[in-house]
Amino acid sequence: MESLTIRRPDDWHLHLRDDDMLRAVAPESRDFRRAIIMPNLVPPVVTGAEAAAYRDRVIAAGFAEPLMTLYLTEGTDPADVVAAHAAGIVTAVKLYPAGATTNSASGVRDIEAVRPVLAAMEEARVPLCLHGEVTDREVDIFDREARFLDRVLTPLRAAHPGLKLTLEHVTTTEAVDWVRANPGVGATITVQHLMANRNDMLAGGMRPHFYCLPILKRATHQESLRAAATSGDGPFFLGTDSAPHPTHAKESACCSAGCFTAPHALPLLAHIFEEEGALDRLEAFTSLNGPAHYRLPVNDDTLTLEKGAARTFPERIEAHGQSVTLFDPGHPVHWHVR
Ligand code: DOR
Ligand code: ZN
Repeated sequence: MESLTIRRPDDWHLHLRDDDMLRAVAPESRDFRRAIIMPNLVPPVVTGAEAAAYRDRVIAAGFAEPLMTLYLTEGTDPADVVAAHAAGIVTAVKLYPAGATTNSASGVRDIEAVRPVLAAMEEARVPLCLHGEVTDREVDIFDREARFLDRVLTPLRAAHPGLKLTLEHVTTTEAVDWVRANPGVGATITVQHLMANRNDMLAGGMRPHFYCLPILKRATHQESLRAAATSGDGPFFLGTDSAPHPTHAKESACCSAGCFTAPHALPLLAHIFEEEGALDRLEAFTSLNGPAHYRLPVNDDTLTLEKGAARTFPERIEAHGQSVTLFDPGHPVHWHVR
């Protein structure tokens, strides 16, 4: 049987939620050793004390090595951010433009309002993770990431050249090119943006389990993302953005944004990297480039993928009173985790 052994992967962008949903989904990230845990709870994780308490709940729910983030608001205290990072409680801060996505209402409206926090983070070397979309209603949803690069990210980088940046879930050729042109900036890429494009979501019927933000783009962008991920190049690494919503909230007249990919992310990635003739670069994407970007050691254990008969994944997980439907790529996948 064909097999591939790689260093244990990490997930550099993961939503675990709280309470029963946290208990239902935390064990589903079992293939990953560490994960950057997103702070967009209701209410959001804003202070170091809140992050420490949330970290304890994540560990209690069964995910042992969470790397916590703070949700940047216009009221965030720079001293609290720096102290929480220095104490090892938080790994990074997350910037959501207000209104960009799920639970982002407390995010940033005016970048000037968070200037003191950004300056303190630059000084103390606290990484900033960005949801890279403008939110203006007049900007077409398919153009929101590209506009963010010109309007927000380029000026931000010029104003804070020492600030460590991770552009999350890149979805466009423009974003890949921007990251390549700005050394030191990292970019996460999701499984669904490598696996699918907007035709897969919309042609022949509308598939709510493919709907996430930033929204899937046209096939040429998917090709750029596949080239970046399979290049093995340092700036590009896996952040699944696995974002569980109850099945009823996805299969709804106004469907929530997010794809649930944590349980089967590795088999899907092996499928993609094999299609691209790049299985030898899967490890760089899942296990090496992320730690290098965050200046953390690579994991000391391994994970083995095996190729065999086509594998069917469960349609959904049902636990702790929650039902969450998995992202279904719509074609057979022959890889599984041993
Ligand atoms: O699709 C998404 N879902 N994109 C985000 O940025 C947030 C996430 C969520 O929290 O559900
Ligand atoms: Zn996310």
